[in-house]
This record gives sequence, structure tokens and C-alpha cells, in this order.
Amino acid sequence: METIQFEHPLARSLLTEMRDRRTTPDRFRALAYRLGFMLAVEATREIETVPVSVDTPLETIMGEKVAEPPVLVPVMRAGLGLLPPFLELIPGAETAFVAVRRDEETGEPRWLYDSSPDLAGRNTIVLDPMLATGGTAKAVVNYVFEKGTKHVTLVSITAAPRGLEALVEYENLTIITVSVDRELNADLFILPGLGDFGDRLFGRPGKGSDE
Ligand code: URA
Repeated sequence: METIQFEHPLARSLLTEMRDRRTTPDRFRALAYRLGFMLAVEATREIETVPVSVDTPLETIMGEKVAEPPVLVPVMRAGLGLLPPFLELIPGAETAFVAVRRDEETGEPRWLYDSSPDLAGRNTIVLDPMLATGGTAKAVVNYVFEKGTKHVTLVSITAAPRGLEALVEYENLTIITVSVDRELNADLFILPGLGDFGDRLFGRPGKGSDE
């Protein structure tokens, strides 16, 4: 496993506004879109291209085009907030859907639903904005590797040390995060974190805030 901490002043500034408890859901979605776009650029840094010839108005040169777009795997609900900017940058990407719910008592992941294209030999990008215990991320990473994925890039916005630790065993895994946060609280929310990402996106005041 390789961890990349995405360093950019605009990313830190967007994250700060997302953390702010006063940020409304419509603003939160806009911020998630902008930050997601920056992360999409980073997550596709190693994307394979093939040479193509292109006629400019003045001459013919060799350029490049994407060989095979990765498969996107947003983990519901929170991952849906990052899907639009990734699809904007990589419009040819197929999307797999997985719904895994963290049991609020035990913190263990419960698999609810999945639907994916053929992942054999493909690169996948898993969108899981809050890497807390790593339980859900691990279940999804196992799922895509079992389906034959050759490399996984896991995109999170904040990650807890415990979540990163849970994933160290995977060789073909790159984790991109904007911030490695301090720890988890007793309810397994990331501190300082930004509360329940799904609730912040979709407008339900959530656990992890005192609204
Ligand atoms: N999921 C969230 O949405 N927030 C956390 O802090 C942890 C998991």
C-alpha cells in the first residue's frame, strides 16, 4: 500500500470550509465537487495512454489518448459526492455501485448491494471520502480485487490512522487523502473530521455534529 497525502493550498482551504459545521449542504456539495475534481486529477496521474496522430491546423503530430478509463466505485452514500467531478474529468469511465452500511453498534460493515461491470484486469478508483476504521473500505477493496481488478486507488478526503493501518496488507493499493486526521471518537467518527459526510451532503443534520 502506498499513501499519498495530497498537498495543495486550495485543497486545504476547501477542506477547512467543509469541516466548518455552519457549511450548508448545498455549499458542502459544491466544495466536495471542487475538491473531488482536484483529487481526480491526482488519482489519474498514472493513467495509461496510447499514441494517436492528430492534425493541428498547421501540421500533423503524435499526441495521446486515454487507453482504458478506470472503473469508478463510489461507496454509498458519501462516495456519491465525489462521483460527479470524477465523471466530469473521465467521462468514459464506467461506474460500479456498492452499498455498505457501517453497523452503528459494532462498527462492522454490512453489505447491502452491488452492481459492477467486468473488473478483470481493470484499474479501479474507489471513492470513500471518510476512511475511519477501514472496515467498509476493506470490504470494498476485497470485493474489487476478488473480481480481478489489477490496481485500486482509494480516494478519501480525510483518513484516520486506524483506517490506513487496516489496509497496509494490500500491495496494489494507492490511497490518496487530503488529511490524515488525529483519531476516532467512541462513535467511530473521525476527529477533527467533518461529521457524517453523507448527512452533510444530503441535508440531514447528523451524528458527529451537535446540531
Ligand atoms: N463516516 C463519516 O461520514 N464520518 C466519519 O467521521 C466517519 C465515517
